[in-house]
Amino acid sequence: HHDHHARHAVASAAGSAAISVTDLTGPRTGEPDARFTLVAQKQMIELASGHTVEAWTFNGQVPGPQLVVREGDLVEVELINKDIELGVTVHWHGVDVPNAEDGVAGLTQNAVMPGESHTYRFVVNETGTHWYHSHQASSVQVAKGLFGAFIILPKDGAEAGGGTADVTIFSHDWETPDGTRTVLHLPGPASGGQRIIPPGTEVRLRLVNSASYTKLFSLHGTPFRVSAIDGWDIHEPEAVTGMRLKIGGGGRYDVTFTMPDHPVALTLDGREPETTIIFSKDGQEAADIRTGGPILDPLAYGSYAPAPIDGNAAFDREFLTVLDQIYLGHYNGNSNTLWAINGEVFPRTPTFVVEEGDLVKTRIVNRTFSDHPMHLHGHHMVVLSRNGTPYKGSPLVLDTLLVDPGETYEVAFRADNPGIWMDHCHILDHAAWGMSMHLTYA
Ligand code: C2O
Ligand code: CU
Repeated sequence: HHDHHARHAVASAAGSAAISVTDLTGPRTGEPDARFTLVAQKQMIELASGHTVEAWTFNGQVPGPQLVVREGDLVEVELINKDIELGVTVHWHGVDVPNAEDGVAGLTQNAVMPGESHTYRFVVNETGTHWYHSHQASSVQVAKGLFGAFIILPKDGAEAGGGTADVTIFSHDWETPDGTRTVLHLPGPASGGQRIIPPGTEVRLRLVNSASYTKLFSLHGTPFRVSAIDGWDIHEPEAVTGMRLKIGGGGRYDVTFTMPDHPVALTLDGREPETTIIFSKDGQEAADIRTGGPILDPLAYGSYAPAPIDGNAAFDREFLTVLDQIYLGHYNGNSNTLWAINGEVFPRTPTFVVEEGDLVKTRIVNRTFSDHPMHLHGHHMVVLSRNGTPYKGSPLVLDTLLVDPGETYEVAFRADNPGIWMDHCHILDHAAWGMSMHLTYA
């Protein structure tokens, strides 16, 4: 069937010569199993708050169309830029695509300018909830709406929606004339609101935080399980009640429950009307919405199983990433901060160099007063420990690791995807103001 390892063949054919990023593509030939077109275009949209904003969209909607594919599919996506003057790209957040398909403007491709198009082709293997977004001037373009869901169903699983309610929900921050409004977006044109779900239905909520800042979700009216984090299944997740879910920018949680006979409310801390969605059999209001429950600790959730990479393995490389802030002072009424990695701001931050096949361990230390959802492209990070304590619950395999102030994590990954990759904070302003670096293959 498809050649899943085209990128490896290309890399070794290059021998000891430097890798050319543009050669590290997915399969260039073969009939795709799934084909989509994304048109980047401006569109006025109305928020649940009544504010109208000029959004930058894929196919005229926010979120963009939900792309649903199957594990093993060869996926082809044509990106067409209609009228986004800055140019656009598409990055497949959480999908370990070959480097030339990663959609990072200025690194793996040029931005696609108005009137131009670009075709992405890759085979998908990471089942679960992922998303796509522009990676040209990301801090502006993601905020303006250039994102959507990318769902990879297991090869042999049921169709999404077969006897179940499968609902993707984005939390997003919109800049309006009155300041920032946080909105929970259901798929389709409407945002916020109500969903009718018959009692007894199995429900999967795919929560995606496309806002930069960390969000606290609460689910009221039912016990629930966190079935997956960043698309990776949690091992034997236990049912919990009244716990809050803390999701950093770029992160995803899949929440599952059986629809009860009464309404269930999903809400964000802050609780403006557009931050609550009610699920019920008949449009009833939810009676009891409280916030402020304990926060679920992903390192102690689910039942213990050995991680895909053992913390005591013989590592080929060990890196240290220290997150710092550099305060520049106040001017024009703003406080100005640069966000640093190992004392430098991008592009002066270090580049970590690996060889294909290396087993790599990285220690990440947050010495700032902010949290940082650190996103590594092209690879999945296995969490080994936090503050020196090994994880206790299910193995966690993440593409975006939320690091709170003062915390130290150890993560590990296998260097199995040659190219030049971004590693950056997914508070995209932090990335733009320094907190970005590269991982590259020797
Ligand atoms: Cu979701 Cu480099 O980004
Ligand atoms: Cu940050």
